[in-house]
Amino acid sequence: MDRDALKNMAADAAVEYVKDGQIVGWGTGSTLRFVVGKLSGRIKKGLRIRGVATSLETARLAREAGIPLLADDAEWVVDLALDGADQVDPRLNLIKGGGGALLKEKIVAAAATRFVVVVDETKRVPVLGGSFPLPVEVVPFGWRTLAKRLERLGCRVTPRMKDGALFVTEVGHYILDLWFSKIDDPIRLEAELEKTPGVVCTGLFVGRADLAVVATQQGIVTLTRP
Ligand code: A5P
Repeated sequence: MDRDALKNMAADAAVEYVKDGQIVGWGTGSTLRFVVGKLSGRIKKGLRIRGVATSLETARLAREAGIPLLADDAEWVVDLALDGADQVDPRLNLIKGGGGALLKEKIVAAAATRFVVVVDETKRVPVLGGSFPLPVEVVPFGWRTLAKRLERLGCRVTPRMKDGALFVTEVGHYILDLWFSKIDDPIRLEAELEKTPGVVCTGLFVGRADLAVVATQQGIVTLTRP
């Protein structure tokens, strides 16, 4: 099976968690595109759900699928957040933000009663870091100085670029990608980063996921947080 077939299988398993009447937080990325796409059939058959989208792209997909969205400034009670991830460790700690939507994704995950991560097996790692950088969302003011300071944490820092210019998030921030050979203590690193002025949000999601739906060549594996 190729990656898309695995994502499709993961999406089939993930939509089983969506129940009638729920408010669902929709993550961002290629896996979530499969998940949102799967629901339009069930909605046509009468499933009533509403949603909160973590990016303009996901909002568009949700509307196309017939999912009404709550206003950004409404007070949401999110029953279930569904999202992809870039890396998942055995404790269900995550690196997210490959698509640049980490801030909204973290806000929605924090507002959710249940957070289910939907991934294919290539995202599972024994330790976070290494092959994938940790995205850190920062304010534009002073970003080069901040990047130098973050290097002192023992990583290489590269600003996220798009089409030859600095990548700008939907809320007007930049992203610094932090390349660690490995992240042994994600709790400590998250705390260290979040107390650094200029850092808005990190792509470390520690202790937030309740469940991971993992598509493997052998079928679906469901992991719960230890
Ligand atoms: C978006 O900002 C990310 O957090 C995505 O959830 C993550 O990059 C996974 O994306 P894919 O499903 O495209 O791999």
